[in-house]
Amino acid sequence: MSHRLVVLISGRGTNLQAILEAIARDQLTAEVALVVSSRADAGGLDIATRAGIPTAVVRRKEYPGRAEFDQALCKVIDDHHPDTLVLAGFMHVLGPEFVNHYPGRLLNIHPSLLPHYRGLDTHARVLAAGDSDHGCSVHFVTEELDGGPLIARALVPVLANDTEETLSKRVQSREHVLYPLVLSWRASGRLRLTEKGVELDGRLLPPEGFQLDWEDHPGPVSVAASDFGR
Ligand code: GRF
Repeated sequence: MSHRLVVLISGRGTNLQAILEAIARDQLTAEVALVVSSRADAGGLDIATRAGIPTAVVRRKEYPGRAEFDQALCKVIDDHHPDTLVLAGFMHVLGPEFVNHYPGRLLNIHPSLLPHYRGLDTHARVLAAGDSDHGCSVHFVTEELDGGPLIARALVPVLANDTEETLSKRVQSREHVLYPLVLSWRASGRLRLTEKGVELDGRLLPPEGFQLDWEDHPGPVSVAASDFGR
């Protein structure tokens, strides 16, 4: 049976698009069973509809508290029996009940090299700090905001004349490689969260996760456990 993804969005959905393209290219053996948006006007909903994927809108303001919102989300999601939940620009902090309802099955992508620059406005903060490296990270989600165990990071250079816009475009171009890559590991049963940490092919990853360098252009199956530790 194919690996079922539920993708949660609030915005444009370019990561959703990249995931669907990886599926279409057979680089990711999975199906997107549902796209859930917290906004009715999210561009990602159009992407899902065009691809014939069921969609649902669950708005935070329609619920008195976060717990009720989380419960409503769980209900919509569980009807579609996901193997993995994919947070892709979902702009709400999920509470402990939600997170603990999907242990080891909930992934997020964040536009920084975690553990640096948790939270918002990462590109502006990187520019203000004068950093030479930036990037994105995919991690398992825990109760700690942007703090769950790291699976993989993609490095992106910061150039002298970068603006927030040019830098965010460069980071997003790597998000679109990194997320399908990680999801392909997950869909083929290679990636697990264990008590010891994150395991790929039965080997424990370093705390910073797998590192994709700027020069790397992997096909999802070409990355092996022996590539760790660079
Ligand atoms: C991405 O930059 C991601 O890192 C962050 O939200 C953004 C989502 O973009 N969590 P998109 O909706 O996939 O285009």
